[in-house]
Amino acid sequence: MPETMSIAKARDAGAIGSQVILRGWVRTRRDSKAGFSFIELNDGSCFGNIQIIAGGELDNYESEVKRLSAGSSITVSGTVKESPGKGQATELQAEEVTVHGLADVETYPLQKKRHSFEFLRTIAHLRPRTNTFGAIARVRNCVCRSIHGFFQDEGFLYIHTPIITASDCEGAGEMFQVTTLDLANPPKKGPEIDFAEDFFDRPTFLPVSGQLDAEVFACSLGKAYTFGPTFRAENSNTSRHLAEFWMVEPEMAFFELDDNMDLAERFLKRIFRDVLDQCPEDMEFFNKRIDKTVLETLQGIVASRFVRLPYTEAIEILKNSGRKFDFPIDWGTDLQAEHERYLTERHFKCPVILYDYPRTIKPFYMRVNDDGRTVRAMDVLVPKVGEIIGGSQREERLDVLQERMAEQDLNAEDYWWYLDLRRYGTVPHSGFGLGLERVIQFITGMANIRDVLPFPRTPGSAEV
Ligand code: 4AD
Ligand code: MG
Repeated sequence: MPETMSIAKARDAGAIGSQVILRGWVRTRRDSKAGFSFIELNDGSCFGNIQIIAGGELDNYESEVKRLSAGSSITVSGTVKESPGKGQATELQAEEVTVHGLADVETYPLQKKRHSFEFLRTIAHLRPRTNTFGAIARVRNCVCRSIHGFFQDEGFLYIHTPIITASDCEGAGEMFQVTTLDLANPPKKGPEIDFAEDFFDRPTFLPVSGQLDAEVFACSLGKAYTFGPTFRAENSNTSRHLAEFWMVEPEMAFFELDDNMDLAERFLKRIFRDVLDQCPEDMEFFNKRIDKTVLETLQGIVASRFVRLPYTEAIEILKNSGRKFDFPIDWGTDLQAEHERYLTERHFKCPVILYDYPRTIKPFYMRVNDDGRTVRAMDVLVPKVGEIIGGSQREERLDVLQERMAEQDLNAEDYWWYLDLRRYGTVPHSGFGLGLERVIQFITGMANIRDVLPFPRTPGSAEV
């Protein structure tokens, strides 16, 4: 009985001599004058295709095999042979080819020539059939597995935080509202909409972060992480912003800022190492076709130590750089992408963990330093992408936290449960958030964040 096999396995020399069944989508078909055809087949199990030799003796050679083109789907059974061709260990001598579906050459959008990523975004339902998007899907899968592997190995509990929330974690007000009210005719209380009539008896939103809920579990069970979709209604049309993205957020009781930085550095190195080990063929492709520095960069990072730099010193470096930035920089202003990139690409040429930011530019939950002006924030910055991690030690002192909330015009009553964590058995604790798409962008060298997830959501765009 032939074995149903993945193309990844059939491409390995170990498969030579096996009777196998392969299934997948045709990339190309070439006919030889000698009366047979070469079919390049891909099934998503690996970057490479397998070459299939389909001879004129097949019953359906003239009627079907010779009509196969890019995008057609087939099942082939046959024998794996050693390939005389270069760059491949094996090929398949077909004994039977079943055609599931042809793809009209006139209308199938993915023909041989290279398409722009902009064009491919308009056919998000077909772009996973290209080399680039297949490779991204496999790298993304590998990163997710690595994320769970890392935290499980470190003794963290995986928790699920809600997709509907009443609190604005980052306090920036960039939230999508969730409501069942009739928008054409909402209930009113005076001139205002009466959200007491809404499904949850209050205004609710999609979360910008799962951090506050993760803190609940860290402050009860020690170490927890949440990993899920987060949403931001910020109208920024940049190559690093999405309206819907995935974030992994660990939260650890008894961790101070240094422990938090150590964990973040160990975590990123584990992800990079796993991708280098588990996706060599995909990474070769990115290195060759997308960005010639990605392999060297990742290998370098795995072997080096991240720079750790207080915000105040970073401002000095930027001011003394002699550079004219589009956004002028001074103590108290937030760093823009151009500043982050200067530090990581020009000055240090490696990842940088910036910490101790001014309290005025960071959210209420970050722990205030003794100087009163800065908070125990940390951002991990990398070349090209800029910030991939944002985190902090959390404010565990009830009075200071209340003061910070008042300072940022937050209503303490809305956060009564969060304040309770400080009221009953408070502990020093810390955590951070890694943007999944940002880390995949960094690993693959893809220029636009819209091209590292299956179906990007950005302002004005939510089709497929
Ligand atoms: O720095 P941010 O806003 O931090 C938080 O939300 C914290 N509550 C996390 C925590 O401490 N648990 O976001 C964290 C990371 C950023 O560093 C970035 O990688 C990513 O999330 N991110 C985005 N990725 C894509 N599109 C956007 N619009 C993003 N906004 C943030
Ligand atoms: Mg941030």
